[in-house]
Amino acid sequence: MKCSFGTPFVSVLIVALLCTIQITAISQDAVSIAILRQKSYYFGNTFKLNWHKASSFCRSLGLFLVSIRNQAQLDEVIENVKNSEFFRVEKTLQLWTSGNDLGEEHQFIWTSTGDRIVFDRWSVGEPNHVKLNDCTIEHCVVLQHYEPPLPGGANYSLDDRFCQNEYFFMCESLDG
Ligand SMILES: *[C@@H]1O[C@H](CO)[C@@H](O)[C@H](O)[C@H]1NC(C)=O
Repeated sequence: MKCSFGTPFVSVLIVALLCTIQITAISQDAVSIAILRQKSYYFGNTFKLNWHKASSFCRSLGLFLVSIRNQAQLDEVIENVKNSEFFRVEKTLQLWTSGNDLGEEHQFIWTSTGDRIVFDRWSVGEPNHVKLNDCTIEHCVVLQHYEPPLPGGANYSLDDRFCQNEYFFMCESLDG
């Protein structure tokens, strides 16, 4: 009969232990979700790189070239450019994104995420797949903006460019 006294005590102990483990697990989850939501950007505006080097540079920071899949993401990029006060000094900006059609011509992909480019933010007449010696040389996508924007002009819009050209660039974390 002594056992019937001991058993509930042990059960309570086990339940308490399980609760502690669960609470710890939940709070750790909450912490990692909070970190995941904290998306970070790096606006490379002090030196220019070709598309491939910009892509590697972003990776060396643990980031990826930026992808602009919708208006909300474009707004975040614009916000970052504005915060940098770039246009207080400069009049034009071309920055590399992760977009390109290197894999298959005319099939533009955000290579950092694997998504097809469906957000229609191309500059007027773009992408125009400029050719040299009958060979398309424009395969990589910049986001471009001229200040002040003119109607029909570059207004945080996309354009295909020669991947070997050197431009500024923006990196992002893919979480969040
Ligand atoms: C630039 O684009 C924004 C939308 O992102 C639009 O509201 C604005 O009118 C455009 N400006 C010009 C000059 O086209």
